Amino acid sequence: MSLYLTTPIFYVNAQPHLGHAYTAVVADTVSRFNRLDGRKVFFQTGTDEHGDKIAQAAAAAGAEVRDYVDRISAMFRDAWPPLLVEPDNFIRTTDPQHIAAVQQILQQVYDRGDIYFSDYDGLYCKGCERFLTEKELVDGKCPDHLTAPEQVAEQNYFFAMGRYQQWLIDHIKANPEFITPERYRNEVLSFLSEPLDDLCISRPVSRLSWGIPLPFDQRFVTYVWFDALINYVSGIGYPDGPNFARRWAGAEHLIAKDILKPHAIFWPTMLKAMGLEPYRRLHVHGYWNVNETKMSKSIGNVVRPEEMVAAYGADTIRYFLLREMSFGLDSSYSDEAVLARRNSDLANDLGNLFARSLTMVKNFAEARVPAPGPLNDEDRELRDAALAMLEEYRRHMRAWSFRQALEAVWEVIGRANRYIVHNAPWELAKDPAQAERLATVLNTLLETLRLINCALRPVMPAAAGKMALALGLEPETELATQQKWGLLPVGGAINLGENMFPRIKTKDKK
Ligand code: MSP
Repeated sequence: MSLYLTTPIFYVNAQPHLGHAYTAVVADTVSRFNRLDGRKVFFQTGTDEHGDKIAQAAAAAGAEVRDYVDRISAMFRDAWPPLLVEPDNFIRTTDPQHIAAVQQILQQVYDRGDIYFSDYDGLYCKGCERFLTEKELVDGKCPDHLTAPEQVAEQNYFFAMGRYQQWLIDHIKANPEFITPERYRNEVLSFLSEPLDDLCISRPVSRLSWGIPLPFDQRFVTYVWFDALINYVSGIGYPDGPNFARRWAGAEHLIAKDILKPHAIFWPTMLKAMGLEPYRRLHVHGYWNVNETKMSKSIGNVVRPEEMVAAYGADTIRYFLLREMSFGLDSSYSDEAVLARRNSDLANDLGNLFARSLTMVKNFAEARVPAPGPLNDEDRELRDAALAMLEEYRRHMRAWSFRQALEAVWEVIGRANRYIVHNAPWELAKDPAQAERLATVLNTLLETLRLINCALRPVMPAAAGKMALALGLEPETELATQQKWGLLPVGGAINLGENMFPRIKTKDKK
């Protein structure tokens, strides 16, 4: 089945930062990995442009809302190519086809009797753009925004979400992989153990006009979450676009823990009311802090993607993000931590292995793949470890365990470096009687590099592309084709490329 993978659509009230970049890099890596693993992939991201928050941000910037959302949306779109993130679609909730889909869905759910009009008196958090329950408050404040919610009394439209509570519980229980990692699934089930309130899905135009008008009552606009979640279907041509049904069947969403509730509760019940199947999976990651502190504009520690790329290059940043964070848990970013990974894992381990091996092939084998003789125990051990690594890597990547996948690759990189030291090809090269042994050692190293390169492609596309070129490989081959020993054609040219990961000194980042 093909994969339709989404990121959240990001609010345009702030510029892209490290947190958004992580989500984008994970989604891009998973897309590339799945293509390598032989699946068709459609990867969508975009921007969320309606609601209070956006209207306020535009006003604060002294801009027309439309100009403002165009400007910030473009900043998100432009943030991804330098990180080598290549989505297939970039959706904006101000796109006319999205607006049409939202209105069509509202009308349909209304006609079916799942939307009703009622009085509401509740505690409204502007930051969350929703009414909070007393229970959610900590010391009378919203725990996410640390502000006291306002008491708001008004008439509004409601989505009868409570009707679908039992169905949702049953669905989550019957599909253990529906929400992962498990801690988030448990969190959702625990939330659902209490009665589920209906969802207020409108805002009076008198209070907020920057939104999608309700098709059945022009005095109201649509609540931003009801609007935003629909991007996941409107972006692939809901209701009857030529690819819609096929893509939707393979839908998987990626989010961070901050927006678990809308994705795990609002969205599946909305889909049920729309008569659509639920998405296949929801993948939830943790939060990045910076130097162990929450990232915030007021603290002034917001890390920008363009600064990370300028300082370290896209490949290093992608590797760092995927290697450092255990998917699902929080992690802390610091320049020191990036430098440590760059200098130790990339410059020392991977960069050295690659440069040393290719230099020896150039010096001792006329820059061509040498024909191996019989393998001894040590060669077989490296061969078996490299082949097993690719299998383990595949298993971890399929499970979204990026850290473990990369650890498996680095285990083999370490082994290969020790293999070089132990076999000392420079000594073998001095003795003509050892020519066959030398050829075998170099060939074993090149084959190991080929398998390592294959694993690194989804994570470090630029560096892996250069490595593939140096080894004379076709960069597009699938994992299954590569997962064999002895594929490099004997006599094939090896090109010693540039040093991909020079060490970076603390003071003078690249
Ligand atoms: N617009 C909504 C999402 C609607 S989806 C139908 C929204 N936007 S957001 O701009 O606030 O983005 C939230 C998402 O950005 C998180 O779920 C996560 O993907 C990413 N991150 C923002 N800050 C983050 C960290 N500090 N750490 C990790 N990811 C974070 O919510």
